[in-house]
Amino acid sequence: MKQLLLIESESDAETEAIAVELSSILRSGDVVALYGQLGAGKTTFVRGLARGLGCRQTVKSPTFNLINEYPGDMPLYHIDFYRLESHSEIDDLGWTDYLDGDGVVAIEWADKLGNSLPHNRFDVLISFGGPEIRIVEVIAVGDPGNR
Ligand SMILES: Nc1ncnc2c1ncn2[C@@H]1O[C@H](COP(=O)(O)OP(=O)(O)O)[C@@H](O)[C@H]1O
Ligand SMILES: [Mg+2]
Repeated sequence: MKQLLLIESESDAETEAIAVELSSILRSGDVVALYGQLGAGKTTFVRGLARGLGCRQTVKSPTFNLINEYPGDMPLYHIDFYRLESHSEIDDLGWTDYLDGDGVVAIEWADKLGNSLPHNRFDVLISFGGPEIRIVEVIAVGDPGNR
């Protein structure tokens, strides 16, 4: 584990900008696992990733199908496990196919995956520091570029 960033964000825009920063080192197949309570800013962070990766589509939390695909210079696959009801649902999604794909995989509520979470990844932990203050921590776990 290697801490890459620990930043206090004071706005949505700043959180997005941190994500743009991270996106510059991402390569296809990379996994960004996001942790934080409801309203922490996980989707906001993914919005920044999309912008940084050259995806022009609007980023919204995936609801019904749990996965959104945003085409772009580097495609982004946005998964949100918030509504995940059972562990078996994870396998049905076939989301691991994206790991061998042509884009970056961002996962909200990554903690719900438990041991199914890829070992090599970037962890993004967002916590509340005040109404508009968020503490954003980015950690390289294992060897993110090597799967
Ligand atoms: N510094 C900040 N960074 C990110 N979001 C912030 C910040 N300050 C306030 N917010 C607000 O917090 C909410 C974050 O929502 P969202 O990104 O959907 O969170 P999550 O996906 O973690 O549930 C938004 O309403 C956003 O405007
Ligand atoms: Mg969200």
